[in-house]
Amino acid sequence: MDHFQPQNGELHAEDVALVRIADEVGTPVYVYSRATLERHARVFREALASIPSKRIAFAVKANPNLAVLRVLGRQGYGADVVSGGEMKRALAAGIAARDIVFSGVGKSAREMAEALDAGVGQFNIESEEEGIELARIADGKGMRAVCTLRVNPDIDAGTHEKISTGKADNKFGVPFDLAVGIYARLAALPGLQMRGLAVHIGSQLADLRPLELAFEKVGALLSMLRAAGYPVTHVDLGGGLGVPYKAGEELPSPAEYGEMVARITHGWDVELMFEPGRVIAGNAGVLLTRVIRVKRNGNRPPFVVVDAAMNDLARPALYGAWHDFDAVRPTGERMTAHIVGPICETGDTFARDRECDALVAGDLAVFRTAGAYGATMASSYNSRGFVPEVLVDGDKYAVVADRIPPEEIYAAERVPEWLG
Ligand code: LLP
Repeated sequence: MDHFQPQNGELHAEDVALVRIADEVGTPVYVYSRATLERHARVFREALASIPSKRIAFAVKANPNLAVLRVLGRQGYGADVVSGGEMKRALAAGIAARDIVFSGVGKSAREMAEALDAGVGQFNIESEEEGIELARIADGKGMRAVCTLRVNPDIDAGTHEKISTGKADNKFGVPFDLAVGIYARLAALPGLQMRGLAVHIGSQLADLRPLELAFEKVGALLSMLRAAGYPVTHVDLGGGLGVPYKAGEELPSPAEYGEMVARITHGWDVELMFEPGRVIAGNAGVLLTRVIRVKRNGNRPPFVVVDAAMNDLARPALYGAWHDFDAVRPTGERMTAHIVGPICETGDTFARDRECDALVAGDLAVFRTAGAYGATMASSYNSRGFVPEVLVDGDKYAVVADRIPPEEIYAAERVPEWLG
């Protein structure tokens, strides 16, 4: 359930008319709902109520806006980060360093040093090579980095190939059958305090079964490590729970996920960690856009050209992803159209042959479920600027990220003198 609903026939974000935001801030613009973020944070936490010891770290990659992170931090969420930049954002948003988990296959030496200095709570190590490097850096500082080892369970998550992470040929985690040996060697290093395991098999999972299989394998590994004498106190189960992108679509609920986790992890006697991203932020945001013109196309469906483009919302172009597209002031009339942006490539297509509200030039519309992996994946391709972000709270809103015009982007560029 989200808070982007019609009032008197006109789409609102909570109690703010989207028409008002479009008039005052301009389009395209990302609009987030605080009430929806908080509701999702609560629902996810409550779904894990029967798990005795747990911590939740929001996957910052899904939506790194400082105001969004502040909302979630105040809900008791920590942060799962995958770069020095994300770590700095989480800290800037007021999330305590000890509540930050640092994941990712390519942590640089500098990022690891900065994370140690900042006091991040846990590193999820993705390779033996990384573990050795982290140990050296921590040891050099007279510190011990608190770590889990991320394992690759070789399980097909059944999601889009570009966001699947748990197959043996994906770059993530260490091979399952080598994990005990690697864990043992890393645990012997003075700069590391190995305390457990981590796993994450992919994103937008529409089926709990692959997660269940992965967690069962992690449970088996946990027993092996304990049998070998290693005290395992923490297991990070990652994120991945999918969300409905189409009205009426049924996906496993957080409650079903929580029930499965409780069943599989029963008796593990560890602190469980979770890294949800999309399930918290996805349906808490829309991309508000204005129709530039409707281009007729003979007998074929017309092109609805909107002012948002693939640089603002990359998911349809990258993954063929579906985002529901609704008029802000629907007339009741419907049309079938191709929904496209102004960018000069055919990939700049949000939807083909989409049955949608009838629209004419100047109308406003939203791409729904754009609160996760939306603004954060934007680029400035075609020298378009970066879209602003707005957070709504009841009947008020604030611009929580300014529009960055192209001039500000090319202000960082230089023409060397010797070019004349
Ligand atoms: N933890 C780790 C280690 C991850 O790699 C990810 C996502 C998450 C947690 C959060 O997963 P979530 O709960 O959001 O599914 N740009 C793609 C999604 C990439 C996800 C990458 N990893 C998209 O737009 O669909």
